[in-house]
Amino acid sequence: MNDAITPRGSVALTGGSGFVGGHILRRLVAEGWQVRALTRRPDGLPPVEGAPPGSVTAIPGDLESSEALAELVAGADAVIHCAGLVAARRRADFLRVNAEGTAALLRALEAGRQAGGPAPRFVLISSLAAREPQLSPYADSKRQAEEALRRLGAGLDWRVLRPAVVYGPGDRATLPLFRQFLRGLALVPGGSGRFSMIYVEDLAAAAVAALAPELPAGGFLGPDDGTAGGYGWAEVLAAAGRLAGRPVRAVTVPRVLQRLAAALSTAGALVSGRPAVLSQGKVNEFGHPDWVCRPQPPGAPSLSDCISWRPAVGLDEGFSKTVAWYKAAGWL
Ligand SMILES: NC(=O)c1ccc[n+]([C@@H]2O[C@H](COP(=O)([O-])OP(=O)(O)OC[C@H]3O[C@@H](n4cnc5c(N)ncnc54)[C@H](OP(=O)(O)O)[C@@H]3O)[C@@H](O)[C@H]2O)c1
Repeated sequence: MNDAITPRGSVALTGGSGFVGGHILRRLVAEGWQVRALTRRPDGLPPVEGAPPGSVTAIPGDLESSEALAELVAGADAVIHCAGLVAARRRADFLRVNAEGTAALLRALEAGRQAGGPAPRFVLISSLAAREPQLSPYADSKRQAEEALRRLGAGLDWRVLRPAVVYGPGDRATLPLFRQFLRGLALVPGGSGRFSMIYVEDLAAAAVAALAPELPAGGFLGPDDGTAGGYGWAEVLAAAGRLAGRPVRAVTVPRVLQRLAAALSTAGALVSGRPAVLSQGKVNEFGHPDWVCRPQPPGAPSLSDCISWRPAVGLDEGFSKTVAWYKAAGWL
């Protein structure tokens, strides 16, 4: 931590105990922000090495507690809303947390403003899935969160980040894929689809950079690792092969088998009470051909056009940092 960092104000953060939000929390502290972090598990917030005392305040509660949300946003100069469900047993759970939770947070901000508080800048961590809400309950819930922001965020200076595939230290979702990479054999959905990727620390830096006043309000931004046109599976497996030091063979799983696995996984979820590892919505998302980030509406400026943020980590470096972290943490 650099002692010379100038304090920059306070940011209310949701999702700080999660994969993406944990990296955003560390980045905020590193850039001199005071963080007020909503959390259901105060001991789940990541430790931040060298953080000045008092730079992170845990606000106990969740997106369904109006008292906790009011406390979270009281006096905040900015808000980064990253909390969300990426897996759930029911559509209603996705909507309750992702869409209604966003609306509840916006209502808490509006109540604070009505009581004479400031109008903080607001960054929503959405998902590229929101571009195709018909594909899955998750995608629909992320789109509905964006719609809540358009509807309820009229008085706010807001912007939305829509990343596609995020990977990096601490991610449990992509861990199985990295295991397969190191074994030299990876199960892939096949098809000629393309997708953008971003290393999580670059996304965290983008989220914090998106607080900059220079960025036009109301924008939808798709931060990626700078690879125009994204990747196909062949390119990802080639990078995995460079990581593993030997070719990684693709085993293409036909759609019908993906559907069967999703049905079994969903049935298993009914018994276990936990979200399915593979859902029919996820299979729909896998089959979609275009998950490449681009500014919305077409022709709008990109994040890098407006502010100094640039992705720093490409695929090879990102894969190798991720595997090094998994190994150090004992996950691999
Ligand atoms: N990972 C990706 O590839 C990816 C790609 C695009 C967009 N995103 C978006 O990035 C965000 C974070 O995803 P992630 O991968 O970091 O997920 P994650 O690791 O599962 O983290 C989710 C976070 O949200 C919190 N949360 C969940 N339900 C909540 C509730 N009802 N009230 C308050 N907090 C709640 C969790 O708290 P607990 O720790 O208490 O559970 C956790 O801090 C999500 O909005 C997701 O849609 C992720």
